[in-house]
Amino acid sequence: STPRPILGIETSCDETGVALLRWEPEQPGHGLLAHALYTQVKLHADYGGVVPELASRDHVRKLLPLVREALKEAELTPADLGGVAYTAGPGLVGALLVGAATGRAMAWALGVPAIGVHHMEGHLLAPLLEDDPPEPPFVALLVSGGHSLLVEVEAVGQYRILGDTLDDAAGEAFDKTAKLMGLPYPGGPALAALATQGRPGVFRFSRPMTDRPGLDFSFSGLKTQVLLAWQQSDQSEQTRADIARAFEEAIVDTLLIKCRRALAETGTKRLVIAGGVGANRRLREDLAAAGAKDGFKTYFPRLQFCTDNGAMIALAGAIRLAHGQHQDESVQVFPRWDL
Ligand code: KG4
Ligand code: ZN
Repeated sequence: STPRPILGIETSCDETGVALLRWEPEQPGHGLLAHALYTQVKLHADYGGVVPELASRDHVRKLLPLVREALKEAELTPADLGGVAYTAGPGLVGALLVGAATGRAMAWALGVPAIGVHHMEGHLLAPLLEDDPPEPPFVALLVSGGHSLLVEVEAVGQYRILGDTLDDAAGEAFDKTAKLMGLPYPGGPALAALATQGRPGVFRFSRPMTDRPGLDFSFSGLKTQVLLAWQQSDQSEQTRADIARAFEEAIVDTLLIKCRRALAETGTKRLVIAGGVGANRRLREDLAAAGAKDGFKTYFPRLQFCTDNGAMIALAGAIRLAHGQHQDESVQVFPRWDL
């Protein structure tokens, strides 16, 4: 019999994401029945960053309408659901509680199992939603606003952290650097867009921690280098673009060097890239080109599944539920939670 669809709910930060997925191991990418996303970007723009209390309230407003929208798109009713998966952490506690309480309540009312999913496991598994998904073992580069991790994936659920950031995450570095050059929130995509107008070789920033062994990252020094360069410049539009380009090159180069190292250390030939920064064009192009040259294969989620979404949570939850994992009725979230 075909498995019943799983509802996935993502509310860890400033995106309300919902998806319905009928997961079948043989055809992992083909079971996505519907997905819907509401982004709170406009709500937080005036504040230059995410305001946690406003985020929670907006999730309350948008979550159930999105669930209804997804059910309608998939031509399903709540009674068709076989389970509910929601992000249980890490993230903003109030925002997480909205998804957790809603998901648990729905599951309880429907008499189906529910499971709290690790947000980064969602990101990590997102490439499995595509055609030609990666088979473990593989190395995953997880680069989002809150995390920069290199992970060795031996199997779904078996993760070994190879490297972590000592300070800012890659996405955070993009956002903070954009902000200090006066770009509006959310800075990462804006900085990346500006970088395409930058001229090569006008500025050059360091590739932090690549001159010593190890797979950890540190991006906060790069931000300081940009600040100094920006303050000492003519602050023209062209200069801002030139700096953006050099900054992006430095980050992408650093990530590439560490990915190559991780692949060499693990003897793996498959590299998964996921998380919001995985939407970065230069990163995607440079890693794919390096793979073609060195003989490793790269796997990316489609752009909209790099950043936060419900589909990746439905997938991670569906896999775990299919293995019989689920939790009792208590509503628990984990604002800080290691993968
Ligand atoms: O995964 P995500 O949506 O949320 C977290 O779990 O943090 O990642 C958001 C991060 C932000 O820092 C954002 O600036 C960054 O991903 N980001 C990008 C791009 N698109 C999103 N950074 C660089 N280039 C992009 N095109
Ligand atoms: Zn995320």
